[in-house]
Amino acid sequence: MATPSSPSTPLFPLLLLLLLLFVVVSSSLSSSASLSDTFLQCLVNHTRTLQQQQEPFQILHSPTNLSFPTLLQSLVRNRRFNTSSTPKPQLILTPSHPSHVQSTVLCARRTGTELRIRSGGHDFEGTSYVARAPFLILDMFNFRSIDVDVKQETAWVGSGATLGELYYRIWEKSGLYGFNAGVCPTIGVGGHLSAGGYGNMLRKFGLASDNVVDAQIVDVEGRVLDRSSMGEDLFWAIRGGGGASFGVILGYRVKLVPVPKVVTVFRVGRTIEENATELVYQWQNIAPRTDNDLFMRLLLQPVSSKRQKGAKTVNASVLALFLGNADRLVSMVNEEFPLLGLRKEDCAEMSWIESVLWWGDFDSGTAVDALLDRMPKSVNFLKRKSDYVRIPMSREELELLWDKLIELGKVGFVFNPYGGKMWEIPASDTPFPHRAGNLFKIQHSISWNEDGIEVELSNLAKIRELYNFMTPYVSKNPRRAFLNYRDLDIGITDNGENSYKEGSVYGVKYFAENFNRLVKVKTAVDPQNFFRNEQSIPPFPRSSLAMSQYSGSTDTARKVTVLVILFLFLKDLMTIYS
Ligand SMILES: Cc1cc2nc3c(=O)[nH]c(=O)nc-3n(C[C@H](O)[C@H](O)[C@H](O)COP(=O)(O)OP(=O)(O)OC[C@H]3O[C@@H](n4cnc5c(N)ncnc54)[C@H](O)[C@@H]3O)c2cc1C
Ligand SMILES: *[C@@H]1O[C@H](CO)[C@@H](O)[C@H](O)[C@H]1NC(C)=O
Ligand SMILES: *[C@@H]1O[C@H](CO)[C@@H](O)[C@H](O)[C@H]1NC(C)=O
Ligand SMILES: *[C@@H]1O[C@H](CO)[C@@H](O)[C@H](O)[C@H]1NC(C)=O
Ligand SMILES: *[C@@H]1O[C@H](CO)[C@@H](O)[C@H](O)[C@H]1NC(C)=O
Ligand SMILES: *[C@@H]1O[C@H](CO)[C@@H](O)[C@H](O)[C@H]1NC(C)=O
Repeated sequence: MATPSSPSTPLFPLLLLLLLLFVVVSSSLSSSASLSDTFLQCLVNHTRTLQQQQEPFQILHSPTNLSFPTLLQSLVRNRRFNTSSTPKPQLILTPSHPSHVQSTVLCARRTGTELRIRSGGHDFEGTSYVARAPFLILDMFNFRSIDVDVKQETAWVGSGATLGELYYRIWEKSGLYGFNAGVCPTIGVGGHLSAGGYGNMLRKFGLASDNVVDAQIVDVEGRVLDRSSMGEDLFWAIRGGGGASFGVILGYRVKLVPVPKVVTVFRVGRTIEENATELVYQWQNIAPRTDNDLFMRLLLQPVSSKRQKGAKTVNASVLALFLGNADRLVSMVNEEFPLLGLRKEDCAEMSWIESVLWWGDFDSGTAVDALLDRMPKSVNFLKRKSDYVRIPMSREELELLWDKLIELGKVGFVFNPYGGKMWEIPASDTPFPHRAGNLFKIQHSISWNEDGIEVELSNLAKIRELYNFMTPYVSKNPRRAFLNYRDLDIGITDNGENSYKEGSVYGVKYFAENFNRLVKVKTAVDPQNFFRNEQSIPPFPRSSLAMSQYSGSTDTARKVTVLVILFLFLKDLMTIYS
């Protein structure tokens, strides 16, 4: 071996290099081309053991299937993640039976592919259907059975059901009950309930996740577990900690909440030219402390002034749901919040289910079965951010804020009052920590309709500028955020070696003191971090030795090995020819 490559055979090393490159490239090509086959084979293998009712090929969709793009796009709810450059999944799985979910989890682990779980697709950052590493989508839309038990005052709801379907099925059984979840009826149960969804009855009944009494989940070993077999720690985690870090949630059992025969809604607004500053100033103290039957959401938007042509102003609108009749509401509001000037003619009395349509922005008179429509009326490009406020802003600070809103021109705010039940539930009862002392939550919101990267960048810059502007007025150390308003700006992880450190950054913002308990649960149920995304709960750090068993790292290890060989080889070449 004294002269491995004598100058008389200069082509030899080059050929070897080419051969090596060829092996690397072709192996990665063939592995992606055959993923569909391998996966199918794996599903077929599991079919035998699990005795599935449906043939595996019916639940597996590869990019060559004509239905693939339609299926992929059918649950995209943010157009920013519906472009040609958005990373696409290698396969979409559409299970319709728990055993399909079990085998999908086991086969995804076997093939070392990342799995993204999608229920309603409303994630603001698309984490349920977009990933940077090669990935599969497990689409839960077939899991939408809803079983309402009025006697027990509970309902079983599949994770792929929408909130609208849940509200409709409850109403169909009894007009005396409802459920306290989100306002937009096309939201999916799986993402919403697992991350602590809220709606316009939160001051009376808390979050949707506060009313979960049982759940079914497929864990990383492919087992189907319910509350008693998963144990209280995991059951605690999937009521606010986000499902995607822990397993595939098949469904939840929720406690129905009583609603009166007649509820009342109103929407009244004022611009800053009409004393909105004073209105908003007072709202901050009144809305979180009024009767628990009353929820008064505040919307702040830059609008064109009606008084001064061409001028901009800010409109403050109060949107309310009251669990009672209009007479009681008007006298109550006029006593506590006379500045609002609420009149009976501003109010509309209706049944609770009609109020769901009103809040969902349906035209008045729309039939209730519109709630069964899973397609939203429109889908925009959007970005959302969140904040929590404990100290009311002063009138002077509000004036500065109006200037900023007018300057930016496009960003709006939704202020959601807390108080009531939200302040009574201890912060450690569920992973959702934003309880006593939080006056209201802010949603920063920007939406647009024009394609293109320039408009996207300019709008993202605007909402980020407003977020920075708000720093002095909102929660600090850390600045808190709401998991269901997912915002990748507050930190992400690539689920590598530093995942615990990276996870702590966004983790304490979403979960405060509950973060470490979530990490403990994660470490116990999924130590290899199979269930992961950009903002999942990391397991506690492991030694580098354990890293070699890390699922999905074999591919990386192979690449690193090849690179090291190439490097040594090139170094060798250099010395020979220098
Ligand atoms: C128009 C609109 C209005 C909204 N209004 C409200 C509101 O009023 N109140 C509120 O609280 N929030 C609201 N949200 C936010 C919404 O609650 C969250 O985006 C929620 O997570 C959506 O759930 P999903 O199943 O539709 O989303 P998906 O995008 O399917 O999932 C969201 C996350 O949960 C994970 N996940 C989904 N299903 C499962 C499962 N079965 N098992 C394990 N993990 C799963 C996903 O992987 C992803 O990380 C709104 C969002 C939009 C777009
Ligand atoms: C399927 O099962 C056969 C026989 O047990 C096994 O040899 C093969 O590796 C399995 N294939 C996959 C993709 O799991
Ligand atoms: C996808 O296409 C393959 C053949 O290319 C077919 O066997 C399979 O049934 C198709 N899957 C679905 C869900 O249509
Ligand atoms: C996604 O894009 C396709 C075409 O590129 C379009 O037909 C579809 O309506 C879009 N869907 C959403 C939800 O934006
Ligand atoms: C302000 O909001 C109210 C209630 O939503 C609306 O009636 C009013 O027209 C708005 N004013 C302007 C100037 O947009
Ligand atoms: C605005 O509200 C304050 C406090 O209620 C009141 O004193 C003032 O007269 C109002 N101004 C206008 C223009 O309505």
